[in-house]
Amino acid sequence: MKKSSVLVCGGAGYIGSHTTVELINAGYDVVIVDNLSNSDRKAIEGVCQITGINIPFIEVDCCDREAFRKVFEQYEFDSAIHFAASKAVGESVAKPMLYYRNNLTSLMNLIDLMCEFGRHNIVFSSSCTVYGEPDKQPVTEQTPRKEATSPYGNTKQISEDILRDAVAATEGLKGIALRYFNPIGAHPSALIGELPRGVPQNLVPYITQTAAGIRECLSVFGDDYPTPDGSCIRDYIDVVDLAKAHVKAIGRMIEVADAPRYEVFNIGTGRGVSVLELVTRFQEVNNLKLNYKIAPRRAGDIVAIWADPTKANDVLGWHAERNLDDTLAAAWAWQKNLETL
Ligand code: UFG
Repeated sequence: MKKSSVLVCGGAGYIGSHTTVELINAGYDVVIVDNLSNSDRKAIEGVCQITGINIPFIEVDCCDREAFRKVFEQYEFDSAIHFAASKAVGESVAKPMLYYRNNLTSLMNLIDLMCEFGRHNIVFSSSCTVYGEPDKQPVTEQTPRKEATSPYGNTKQISEDILRDAVAATEGLKGIALRYFNPIGAHPSALIGELPRGVPQNLVPYITQTAAGIRECLSVFGDDYPTPDGSCIRDYIDVVDLAKAHVKAIGRMIEVADAPRYEVFNIGTGRGVSVLELVTRFQEVNNLKLNYKIAPRRAGDIVAIWADPTKANDVLGWHAERNLDDTLAAAWAWQKNLETL
């Protein structure tokens, strides 16, 4: 049986493009909207090449409600995934209004239009940033959210609340917020992956660009934290695994009639990995030597966070499958292939 159709807002981005591939693999039709503000048509070309399908793409800004409405008039879909948001923590501190306007307006427009057109299911890209610096590891969905440390983090908290409240007030509307831990890696085809603009702020793109000679030296921000090797600890989740969590979330909203109408899930591996451990694994797996140095701590970094993914495992039937070595090999394969795209 042909499955229903999904609107992917921000489908040209890093997680959106990988999710589109997994939705198509699972039998869904997809419509992509993206304003290409922090993404590239190349990602859509890559997705079409991997899936062998010419996926409809509309270049539209979800903040432009009238332009966005036309997508609803033109396409039938019952579910939507909202990836269309700005995501750089540092930039959000410098340009808070940009973050509040963009991240909140695009989500509110999506919710309004879903309600107006009688469409039912919304998956929202949230983040483990909503937990701040947790008192206890690993974090469960019950771990209290702490006050956000950046406008970006605040938009994730507010967006979760907006979706929760809209669902409570609207019969038939369902919402799932997926709290991502640290997404890394690339599709095994090396046709899609992360495309950071300018100097990468995140660890793995900085590592791969250093290995490729684009950056001279990786700075490891701090080796004097209260962790076994002194560097920060995160839960690195393979982007393809993360993409599959969205497919599970959509499936649950469509198929499980008695599920709570608003739910939150941690999407992580359950394993904490330090920065130095990750650097070592990257070198060993890819058989290369990385130029890196220990640098001062980065302002705003939390010491350690990793997920308890039990709820996603049990309720969504989702598990992180790829191991860290395969993920780091895929990240490097993507970096090398980038020059040829
Ligand atoms: N790091 C380095 N050197 C670098 C870049 C990062 O040592 O050049 C370290 C950081 O200090 C941190 C770890 O690598 O300890 C991971 O840093 P990232 O920037 O890759 O990721 P963060 O955990 O800081 O942030 C990520 C996302 C945010 C999200 C946050 C929490 O980038 O969008 O996780 O969810 F909000």
